[in-house]
Amino acid sequence: MSETIQPKATIVIFGATGDLANRKLYPSIYRLYKSGKLDENFAVIGLARRGWDNDIIREKVEQSIQGLTSEDEDVSEFTSHFYYKSFDVTSTDSYTDLKFMVESLEREYHTEGNRLFYLAMAPDFFGTIANQLKDHGLKETSGWTRLVIEKPFGHDLPSAKKLNKELQAAFDENQIYRIDHYLGKEMVQNIEVIRFANGIFEHLWNNQFINNIQVTSSETLGVEERAHYYDASGATRDMIQNHMLQMVALLAMEPPINLSTEEIRSEKIKVLRALRTIKEEKVHKYFVRGQYGPGEIDGKKVNGYQDEAEALKDSTTETFVAAKLVIDNYRWAGVPFYIRTGKRMKEKSTKIVVEFKDIPMNLYHKKDDLRNPNLLVINIQPNEGITLHLNAKKTGNGNLTEPIQLAYHQDSESGINTPEAYEKLIYDSMLGDATNFTHWDEVALSWEFVDRLLASWANTKPDFPNYESGSMGPKAADELLERNGFHWWPE
Ligand code: BG6
Repeated sequence: MSETIQPKATIVIFGATGDLANRKLYPSIYRLYKSGKLDENFAVIGLARRGWDNDIIREKVEQSIQGLTSEDEDVSEFTSHFYYKSFDVTSTDSYTDLKFMVESLEREYHTEGNRLFYLAMAPDFFGTIANQLKDHGLKETSGWTRLVIEKPFGHDLPSAKKLNKELQAAFDENQIYRIDHYLGKEMVQNIEVIRFANGIFEHLWNNQFINNIQVTSSETLGVEERAHYYDASGATRDMIQNHMLQMVALLAMEPPINLSTEEIRSEKIKVLRALRTIKEEKVHKYFVRGQYGPGEIDGKKVNGYQDEAEALKDSTTETFVAAKLVIDNYRWAGVPFYIRTGKRMKEKSTKIVVEFKDIPMNLYHKKDDLRNPNLLVINIQPNEGITLHLNAKKTGNGNLTEPIQLAYHQDSESGINTPEAYEKLIYDSMLGDATNFTHWDEVALSWEFVDRLLASWANTKPDFPNYESGSMGPKAADELLERNGFHWWPE
């Protein structure tokens, strides 16, 4: 068994009082500590405007990990690694004090000068913070310095470029870790392994043997308290530009020449470059947008999007997107990649279905509608695993067939809880492994694709709402596949 590497570092979290820190970062740091991936050589400095102190942040951290600890566990040893400083990101004095604090904790915790700056706050100040860190000498250290950036990375290509330029004035590309938390999910990381470690799949992974690939990420939650952000973003910016296109890139990329960050990224970039640009007059044939109306979820009546907040009245923001993506390269010519994502849908689930072509002459089923194509289903969440749909002989006399499923469930097999996406990403960033973070070129190409779509949608007013809460989206999303003789495989 390989030895666990225990990185040493001071983690500086901007936005320490926020929801992300509380829901994801603190629990993930705790899980790393518990599993021995972090030992005593780490300190966390929480920064935010609020007037908290060390005691308060330690208390908050304790609360945030409550569900993970045993009843009589003493977590004070863990929480003692947390420090807090009330911080104004625009004030130069704040950075001078921060430098002093970082250096003194480095001495105390022997972190070898390694610094991870984690920006978990509204993106408006990302550029300012990066440059202030540089100007105040926070990058001058005997160890490494890295900058972790939460999404959204810009609002469109021009704003993303501007942000990137600001960041790159202070940090090198290889010091910038752009988070796409889907890349930290166990089964998203498994896509590459399933493909490249199994001859039975990779040999068939092309337009000769695959009919279509479907990626669905549905949510039951609505817009919640994020109306302000979400209404300016919509499903396209919120989910398609990042998570959905990243999954497509992993599914469609060529085998890299090795597993290094550079090689994997460069193959993903090629997929994004091969995404066909759809002309405005044809956009309706390839994309469907939707917005949820009222409906019922888990037996409870829920409001439509426009009734969620006063500011959302008459909103034309899409809460659902389905698309037929065309990848113009040798491997995928003629194979549609269908993707869909939305809020307030029937269930919370992320799933990939690879539909294989039928055999040249089906001896058992003459009629198309009786055939059960082979499917490879990759369940990203909530149940992590893969299922292979095959045909087998129906027990008894005769030549009848029946569909069977070979299923593998991650958690039941390995017997350990799979690490949270954030836990893996924080650990990777401390180890300097940027494979599961997005390179600037990927971000730029995704924005270019999405901007073009949004620009053409902006020219027509959608007829919203057009799907009921608790459904699988607008009817037009089904028609998108029906036009090619396909259908979404059941949830
Ligand atoms: C985030 C989006 O990036 O991903 C949210 O901003 C969305 O709107 C979330 O709910 C979905 O993530 P997950 O891991 O719950 O599928």
